Amino acid sequence: MDDKALLELVNVSVDFRGFRAVDGVSMSVKAGEIRTIIGPNGAGKSTLIDLITAKTKLRYGRIFFQGRDITNRSPDSIARIYGIGRKFQGPNVFGDMTVEENLALALSGSRGVLRNLLRSESEDARGAIDGILDTIELAGARREMVSSLSHGEKQWVEIGMVLAQDAKLIILDEPTTGMTADETYKTGEMIRAMSGDRTVIVTEHDMDFVRQVAQTVTVMNQGKILAEGGFEEISANPEVIRVYLKE
Ligand SMILES: Nc1ncnc2c1ncn2[C@@H]1O[C@H](COP(=O)(O)OP(=O)(O)O)[C@@H](O)[C@H]1O
Ligand SMILES: [Mg+2]
Repeated sequence: MDDKALLELVNVSVDFRGFRAVDGVSMSVKAGEIRTIIGPNGAGKSTLIDLITAKTKLRYGRIFFQGRDITNRSPDSIARIYGIGRKFQGPNVFGDMTVEENLALALSGSRGVLRNLLRSESEDARGAIDGILDTIELAGARREMVSSLSHGEKQWVEIGMVLAQDAKLIILDEPTTGMTADETYKTGEMIRAMSGDRTVIVTEHDMDFVRQVAQTVTVMNQGKILAEGGFEEISANPEVIRVYLKE
């Protein structure tokens, strides 16, 4: 085991009715890094994230976070006790609430606390919300209904909600799906801004985005890790080109 790793997967596998979607993956992510995971559709990227966040129970292997064994803990303890936050593919936000209310909700964890929070102008909460609004570049839209925002802006609100949960590790599954090139670039800058204090794992298919954010790239194919390295090294790897980049 790597003592300096924030997250360590050791030989992790899962089967769905005999089909091995994740097959013997070992991976180590350092504190403060941005790790991108790429690979063809069906490679097992989302399933790997489901295993880390305990949405899916793993069949073989172990997962360590800050040196503690978190294998098959409940999804709730993964999120709340260990501080692993996750954004699903596609926005999951409350359209009938404002941007600010969505963030306050994520900050408080319950609607009851939300009312008090917004009414009492708790300074800590205000400060946290202002900081997140700046990071997600929606300070000007704080009182707008989320339903009126663009698809890309909704994705940013959800990134903001993950930030509000004060996660140490933030996992984003294809956050730029459906975004314009400009929104995709902005999302990359946001991810760079939020790393450092936090660790980010992001799955992606847009190679310009991967070049923009990646420190280490992990390439998956058929449930396995095909290659791992810096962007230049990965883009020049003949196997990676054959199974993924030439598409
Ligand atoms: N709950 C499930 N039941 C059965 N098969 C699944 C389930 N989740 C994912 N799979 C299969 O596992 C493989 C990996 O899927 P996924 O992790 O979504 O890939 P990716 O995110 O890399 O596109 C695919 O073949 C998919 O059909
Ligand atoms: Mg996926």
